[in-house]
Amino acid sequence: MPFDPVRIREHFPALAIEDHDKPRVYLDGPAGTQVPRAVIDRTVDYLVNHNANGGGAFRTARATDAISTEAHLFMADFLNAPSPLEIVFGPNMTTLTYQISRSLGKIFRPGERLMVTRMDHDANVYPWVQLAEDLGLEVLWLPFDTGTFRFDPEAFRQLLEQGVRLVAFCMASNALGTINPVKEMCRMAREAGALSYVDAVQYAPHGPIDVQDLGCDFLVCSAYKFFGGHQGILWGREELLSELYPYQVRPAAAKLPKRF
Ligand SMILES: Cc1ncc(COP(=O)(O)O)c(C=O)c1O
Repeated sequence: MPFDPVRIREHFPALAIEDHDKPRVYLDGPAGTQVPRAVIDRTVDYLVNHNANGGGAFRTARATDAISTEAHLFMADFLNAPSPLEIVFGPNMTTLTYQISRSLGKIFRPGERLMVTRMDHDANVYPWVQLAEDLGLEVLWLPFDTGTFRFDPEAFRQLLEQGVRLVAFCMASNALGTINPVKEMCRMAREAGALSYVDAVQYAPHGPIDVQDLGCDFLVCSAYKFFGGHQGILWGREELLSELYPYQVRPAAAKLPKRF
């Protein structure tokens, strides 16, 4: 099918806005994508016709639950997750990472090690650094080659050999454009006994993601980078999400997918 930018533009009402008779130009890439009419219509339809808390025995609550189920199925499909139970929605990737890092903190012990990278967005660095500060963990930093903008697999292997509980790294760098060999890095992490936490916020709008093929333990992305509302998505292995301690109030659901 030929790429027709005029027809595609018509789907995005924000692109038709003019300021002082001049078309508005959007240059703030990290702010995310503009939203197509289909997403706006669906959001308005929900807020007008179905707005409710889930879990109730009345019409709008049931509709809310059905939409939530559909959203879990869609994201499981998007990431090729084995189950929609493994999808967690949250305000954004940063908040989800803070949340799950605290739950993971329950299984880490003082003196254990985490690995973060010099390439990652701070959202996949500082939640782990602060967790380490809180728990007395050691943080190992993976550098990248400033000539090739890539990680050195040997440096990665050497840090893993020090004994690491979790490695946090990006699928693609928002600053450099580097696409990392995530499958290989996850394999190395797994063989070294480390969990892998993959930031796919930058990659998700650009390429397909298959969490089963990648072999990661967690993967996060943000729908507002690919035409959705401002929303973050976390995928985690079912056995991990079922066992990790969820910080939640007592009446909240104890089972996946509502556990987190
Ligand atoms: C690579 C990368 N990771 C994480 C984030 C943070 O995502 P969020 O705004 O959903 O917290 C961003 C935001 O731009 C990003 O580019």
